[in-house]
Amino acid sequence: MKINGKDYQALWQEGHIVQFIDQRKLPYSLEIYSARTVDDIVYAIKEMVVRGAPAIGAAAAYGMALGQNDPEKTATLLRATRPTAYDLFHAIEYMIQKIDLEENAFDAAASYAKTIITRCKKIGENGEKLITDSMRILTHCNAGALATIDYGTALAPLRFAHQNRKKIFVYADETRPRFQGLLTAWELYHEGILYALIADNAAGYYMRKKDIDLVIVGADRIAKNGDFANKIGTYEKAVIAKENDIPFYVAAPASTFDPNIRDGSHIIIEERARQEMTEIAGKSIMPDWITVKNPAFDITPQKYVTGYITESGISKK
Ligand code: MRU
Repeated sequence: MKINGKDYQALWQEGHIVQFIDQRKLPYSLEIYSARTVDDIVYAIKEMVVRGAPAIGAAAAYGMALGQNDPEKTATLLRATRPTAYDLFHAIEYMIQKIDLEENAFDAAASYAKTIITRCKKIGENGEKLITDSMRILTHCNAGALATIDYGTALAPLRFAHQNRKKIFVYADETRPRFQGLLTAWELYHEGILYALIADNAAGYYMRKKDIDLVIVGADRIAKNGDFANKIGTYEKAVIAKENDIPFYVAAPASTFDPNIRDGSHIIIEERARQEMTEIAGKSIMPDWITVKNPAFDITPQKYVTGYITESGISKK
C-alpha cells in the first residue's frame, strides 16, 4: 500500500528483526514496532500491534523463525495468542514442517509472507469483476493491507476497481469496540477511494434505503460447510443484506479455510478484555461497576453468503 507516496506493508523483515506498522497507533501516527524475540511477536499479536487473520499468520511464521531452536515451545506460545483466526495455526504448522526439514526458517517465513501477498493480489483481481462503475460497497472491520501484509482481502477488489477507474463509494463500519473501521478509513483515504465511516448500527439503515449495492467482508476462519467467523457484527450485516437482496461476499485466502471443522459451531470465539469496552484511547467512558461482555467475533452461517472470493476465483454456493 502507498502512504504519502511511500510503499508500506503491515509487516516486513529486516535481517532477523520483524518490523510492524503499530496498528494501535493508527490513524493518528505511523509508528514502527520492532520484534527481535518470540516474546516480542507474542506481545504484538496479543496486544494487536498486528491484527487481521493473514497478517497474524505471517507474524506467527516469523515468530517460529525467531524461536526455531525450540519449535515446540515457540508453537505453544504462539498458539495461545489468539484462538479464532485459522491463519495463525496454519502458519505455525507450515513452519514446523519447514523446520523439521531443516530448511532456513527465516527464508521459509519470508516465503510464507510472500505467498499471502500474492494470494491477496489475486483475490483483488478476481473480486474486482464483481464491481461495476458507481457501486456502493459496505465493508466491516479492517480486511485491508494492514490485516494481510498488503492489498487486503475485502479491500483488495476495491483497490483494483479504483485503479481501473471505476467510481466506487465505500461504507466502512466503525467496528466497535476496537474501531478497526478507522484503519479501513485510513487505507481508503490514502488510496484516494471515496468513503464514509458509519456507526455499526447504521448499516441496516443504508441497506434498506438501497444505498448499498454489495457487501464484502473478510474472514478469520471458514469451516468446511462455508460457515465463517469474522469480526463481531458481521452476522447481523449478512442477515440484513439477505433481507434486502444485497449480494454478500466473503474474501479470504486458502490459509483461512480450516479443513478440520465441519461447521461454524466448532469455531472458538475469542473473548477480549473489558477495557476494550470501557475505555477509549486509555480513557474510561463508563463507571467501574458496569458489567460487560466482549466477544471479538461472530459466526455467519453459509446460507447468508452469496460467494467466496479466493485466489482461485469466485465460488458460488
Ligand atoms: O480482531 P481483528 O482485528 O484481528 O479481527 C480482524 C477481522 O475480523 C478481519 O475481518 C479478518 O481477520 C479478515 S482480515 C483480512
